[in-house]
Amino acid sequence: MKDKIGQLKSQFEKSAAEVKTLSDLEQLEMGFLGRKNGLLTLAMKDLKSLPKEEIPAAGQLINEVKNFVIAKIEEIKSKITGGESISSFDYSLPGSNQPNGHLHLVTHAIEEIASIFTKIGFVRERYPEVDWDYYAFETLNMPGDHPARDEWETFFIDGEPIKMHLADSSLKLTDKGKRILTPHTSNGQVREMEKKKLPIRMMNISKTYRRQSDASHAPMFHQFEGLVVDKGINITHLKGTIEYFVKNFFGEDREIRLRPHHFQFTEPSFEVDISCGFCHGKGIVDGQKCKICKDGWLELAGAGMVHPNVLKAGGIDPKIYSGFAFGWGVERCYLMKSGLNIDDIRLLYKNDLRFLEQF
Ligand code: DAH
Repeated sequence: MKDKIGQLKSQFEKSAAEVKTLSDLEQLEMGFLGRKNGLLTLAMKDLKSLPKEEIPAAGQLINEVKNFVIAKIEEIKSKITGGESISSFDYSLPGSNQPNGHLHLVTHAIEEIASIFTKIGFVRERYPEVDWDYYAFETLNMPGDHPARDEWETFFIDGEPIKMHLADSSLKLTDKGKRILTPHTSNGQVREMEKKKLPIRMMNISKTYRRQSDASHAPMFHQFEGLVVDKGINITHLKGTIEYFVKNFFGEDREIRLRPHHFQFTEPSFEVDISCGFCHGKGIVDGQKCKICKDGWLELAGAGMVHPNVLKAGGIDPKIYSGFAFGWGVERCYLMKSGLNIDDIRLLYKNDLRFLEQF
């Protein structure tokens, strides 16, 4: 071992004498002191193979040579650089980029949806997310303990209902009920009508809350609601508007169909389906049943012609005016469009950067 270390030292001295540039010196340094394959580093690792009693002396010897090598390298370095210390920073390396944040994927979806509807004259309005029962249920033709309310698993806020004067006294309501976290964006409908500005072409995109939390329901999610009220509005306007949105958001090749349904606040009411993008509405891919849809169609959302009682509640005469409305889930639309298959929708709101950074 002693001889081997002696040889290493003379090998170093020989190579050191040939060093001319800083890069030669760097190579020499790596060759002897490099953390993985430096000759002295390897010699240190070899110590283990010696008989126990020889290890301390050999270790000391290697350390002496190592110190010699370090001192010599410093000496050569200061000769080459004329004694001036030089920075080892390489100015030609590309800079490291600042991490760039980006909008949440649901915010992107909201912006896209809003911009599609703005182009055909819808105006985005805002209404309270903590609102009265009156706007979320009562004026939407779901009075008191109407069983239809059970479908909206609502968060109620503690506190006494506040008495107030109503625009339409014929409803004989004396207060607006309890305060709730809006379980749907339809609360904007009568609020918009109460502004007494006709015609209406309103869009309400907002957070909505329901007492549901499982893989396919987040307790907070988003809906977008459209409401049009004018003279002579009929189902063809509703269908045209939905078709326009679907083609712009999902793609020109997608078709829609309206299926009869029931909502208290619309009559007639529909559920809107769009043709499946995977099997192109055929329900069959390569002779097999499509995995994404049932029969070529995917269920998207609710819509309908505004119920006369809702118009009345907003102080609008249903004999003169008519309207249509629709209310859909933003997350659902986004997931359907992106084809993103996440097994738990709550992942969208967990703020896990490993997930969010992918978009
Ligand atoms: N508010 C309904 C819900 O949350 C969706 C809806 C259906 C909204 C029909 C509408 C409508 O405006 O006309 O399930």
